[in-house]
Amino acid sequence: MYVCVCNAVTERQVYQAVKQGAKTVKHLKEQLNVGTECGRCVSCAKACIKEAHAEQRQEFAKKLIQIAPIQLGAA
Ligand code: FES
Repeated sequence: MYVCVCNAVTERQVYQAVKQGAKTVKHLKEQLNVGTECGRCVSCAKACIKEAHAEQRQEFAKKLIQIAPIQLGAA
């Protein structure tokens, strides 16, 4: 799905940019030119960043559980 039609930037590209450290729309503007033309994509870009960060947190939590499984009732 396109996030920014003016610059043909896809959701996948946004997710990749977030994986590489993009945290704000400003970062996406610098890296992918998101929002640099009509600006209609800015709110969608914000939502994509938020979603990508949520996915990253879930992936991190899964890895953490694999590394250090929680032992319930072991306190
Ligand atoms: S849709 Fe992104 S700048 Fe127009």
